[in-house]
Amino acid sequence: MAIRKTIILFFLFTFLSSQNHFSAAQKWVKAGYWYSGSDFPISDINSALFTHLICAFANVNSSTYELSIPSNFEQSFSIFTGIVKRKNPSIVPLLSIWDGQAETYKSIFGEAVNSSVLSSMLAQSSYKKSFIESSVKTARTFGFQGIDLFWLWPDSTDLSNIGTLLDEWRATVESEPRNSSVSKLILTMGVRYSPSLQSVSYPIDSMKRNLDWAHVVAYDYHMPSRENFTGNHAALYNPSSNISTDFGIREWLSGGYPASKLVLGMPYHGYAWKLANPTDNSLGAPASGPGVTIDGSMGFRFIRAFIQNYGYGARSVYNSTYVVNYFVAGSTWINFDDVETVRAKISYAKEKGLLGYNVFQVINDDNWALSLAGW
Ligand SMILES: *[C@@H]1O[C@H](CO)[C@@H](O)[C@H](O)[C@H]1NC(C)=O
Ligand SMILES: *[C@@H]1O[C@H](CO)[C@@H](O)[C@H](O)[C@H]1NC(C)=O
Ligand SMILES: *[C@@H]1O[C@H](CO)[C@@H](O)[C@H](O)[C@H]1NC(C)=O
Ligand SMILES: *[C@@H]1O[C@H](CO)[C@@H](O)[C@H](O)[C@H]1NC(C)=O
Ligand SMILES: *[C@@H]1O[C@H](CO)[C@@H](O)[C@H](O)[C@H]1NC(C)=O
Ligand SMILES: *[C@@H]1O[C@H](CO)[C@@H](O)[C@H](O)[C@H]1NC(C)=O
Repeated sequence: MAIRKTIILFFLFTFLSSQNHFSAAQKWVKAGYWYSGSDFPISDINSALFTHLICAFANVNSSTYELSIPSNFEQSFSIFTGIVKRKNPSIVPLLSIWDGQAETYKSIFGEAVNSSVLSSMLAQSSYKKSFIESSVKTARTFGFQGIDLFWLWPDSTDLSNIGTLLDEWRATVESEPRNSSVSKLILTMGVRYSPSLQSVSYPIDSMKRNLDWAHVVAYDYHMPSRENFTGNHAALYNPSSNISTDFGIREWLSGGYPASKLVLGMPYHGYAWKLANPTDNSLGAPASGPGVTIDGSMGFRFIRAFIQNYGYGARSVYNSTYVVNYFVAGSTWINFDDVETVRAKISYAKEKGLLGYNVFQVINDDNWALSLAGW
């Protein structure tokens, strides 16, 4: 369980002005997710290395459609903003809402969530109203300065409904009564690496109008629990397929979504495959399932310790064609983002004029090596 928690996979800026969220000067966003079910204390997060920290995850009550914080996490959510501001008073804390994809949630977080709640919420206007109003109320109650909807697998009906939700959510945020010392709530959304996949498309116009920005989930492309072939789970480039971060980002931009509202997601985890034949350790080599952990996922800190255990001089190899790191030993094939990869991705985000990056998730860093790579 401890390993499972450390491997859990799984982001921002300050408004100088509370008057207009579109004209407010936006600085480079360095955001990080913190999951409340992890054993990692909030006080250990080096919030000075981030501009935004995202507390995850709230969900939605299946009968009232109000935002709901799981009871065992209530304490963490109530102290989060106060604690992260101690090391960095200008940090902007956001509250994230998870789509509750039941199967994934259960395997990762050990509890079931009803994945159809968000879909039902979108389908009826009174439910939507409950959701929107309670989300604003909850965020304010706990001192969060923004709300993030981390819904990764909406279907085509959900996606067209999300367009309307975002219009209403934005209107509520704009009209929220508040005094001049309180800034307007930020609205963000976690999105897939590419806007059109499997004939499902994001409502780009509404997103452009209503979101402060979108968090691009640019990882978990290939996973050992799903494919018995070694694969890059978060490659920036891929000369032979469209499954890459660069492809996805270019699709968002050519679809009309502005670079200034895209925040690049980077994983603080990698995946291990168990090779079918240790002598064939190339990319795409046959595997017989996950290596090292139950689902093959490994936090960066864990990967580093694993490599060190191979003795002095053992190190990962950086491949600049894909922008990934590998560590291969015996029948274990690990693909992850090491410091070089993180630096290259940050340079890429700057070259493309993106708003910043986010990391999933902060607890998996090793002595802040990856987070410092961005400074
Ligand atoms: C949903 O809300 C109802 C009514 O407030 C409450 O009785 C129920 O326990 C809530 N469900 C969960 C899972 O929190
Ligand atoms: C899941 O949510 C839907 C929509 O709110 C509801 O109709 C259904 O009863 C819920 N299922 C369970 C198992 O709670
Ligand atoms: C503004 O509202 C906040 C939150 O409700 C409150 O703490 C603060 O005292 C208010 N400031 C002024 C100047 O009214
Ligand atoms: C990659 O995407 C481009 C543009 O959408 C498309 O023309 C091309 O056929 C795709 N290639 C593959 C291998 O899917
Ligand atoms: C991978 O291979 C193992 C061993 O043959 C098998 O048990 C597993 O179901 C396979 N996984 C997938 C995703 O095909
Ligand atoms: C990256 O790996 C691929 C596949 O193994 C290889 O063809 C390519 O030459 C490597 N690139 C570098 C810069 O090592």
